[in-house]
Amino acid sequence: MDVEQVERTAKELVPPGKGLLAADESFGTIGKRFEAVGIEANEETRRQYREMLLTTEEIGEYISGVILFDETIRQSTSDGKTMIEVLQEQGIIPGIKVDRSTVDLPLAPGEKYTQGLDGLRERLEEYVEMGARFTKWRAVITIGDGIPTVKCVESNARALALYAAFSQEAGLVPVVEPEVVIDGDHSIEHSFEVNEWALRSTYTAMYEQGVHLEGTLLKPNFVINGKDASEQASVEDVARYTIECFKRSVPAAVPGIVLLSGGQSGEDATAHLNAMKSMYDNLPWEVSFSWARALQGRPMEIWGGEEQNVPEAQKVFQHRARMASAATTGDYSREMEQEQAA
Ligand code: 13P
Repeated sequence: MDVEQVERTAKELVPPGKGLLAADESFGTIGKRFEAVGIEANEETRRQYREMLLTTEEIGEYISGVILFDETIRQSTSDGKTMIEVLQEQGIIPGIKVDRSTVDLPLAPGEKYTQGLDGLRERLEEYVEMGARFTKWRAVITIGDGIPTVKCVESNARALALYAAFSQEAGLVPVVEPEVVIDGDHSIEHSFEVNEWALRSTYTAMYEQGVHLEGTLLKPNFVINGKDASEQASVEDVARYTIECFKRSVPAAVPGIVLLSGGQSGEDATAHLNAMKSMYDNLPWEVSFSWARALQGRPMEIWGGEEQNVPEAQKVFQHRARMASAATTGDYSREMEQEQAA
């Protein structure tokens, strides 16, 4: 492993005021999101959509890295540049999702296991040649009646650690994502317990696997009540529970924590991130974002698959990226949402 290289890349991904765009939705996920807003999903519409996002002006000021999907990393813009070249021109580091989505965990009803370790070394070599510098792997942990089980937490932690080791061997920074999903009616306290467990297990497995933590990033969810819970936590509670959970379970050697948005609106995710930065000083890790839906929700709706809507969609996307950037330094306020109209 080139220790210096992975440490340098990890730091470059979390400079003050910047975070990640997750544009790595699998065929199934982007298909569902397109369908919800009336866009037909095919290779060409996915290409046009990702071109719209990645060619938005100035996003390099707010976004340090973009996570691509395998199809996209091989695609080009309508004027013939590869998506990687477009990112490099904006000073953005290209990354790639390398897991192969979830399957049902055997003998564990309602739980998932993330696959993709077979052949990973060869796939990583190819992505390095294309210019990728970091990777992502998402594990899914669901809260429900009697779940998660030890089987689910431990098997996913083990896979995350192995994936991280393969990535570092190839000179790539792993963005390790053990997502405790927001589905369900659980309380924020219960979410805290499950998140602490999942994170501790992930870091134990990474220690056993010899992963060099200084050359990794963590991509966790906010600690928050389930979306169907009767009691909704305040913005300050979400910020406090989330940071207190990380303090207990994320080693200080990890350079950055880039939160996922997990189905929250752009405004809510931005307010939660901003509260963390306003309420806490001197945290051991950089804290920033790695968002798909919170950055892309509105722009996707506005684009709607129509060329003529590209300028408006890009304007809204740029605005969301600017708001997220402001939140990483605690400088966001809901009033700033009006700026884009000006
Ligand atoms: P969301 O921000 O929409 O949760 O997506 C982030 C992601 O990359 C999930 O793997």
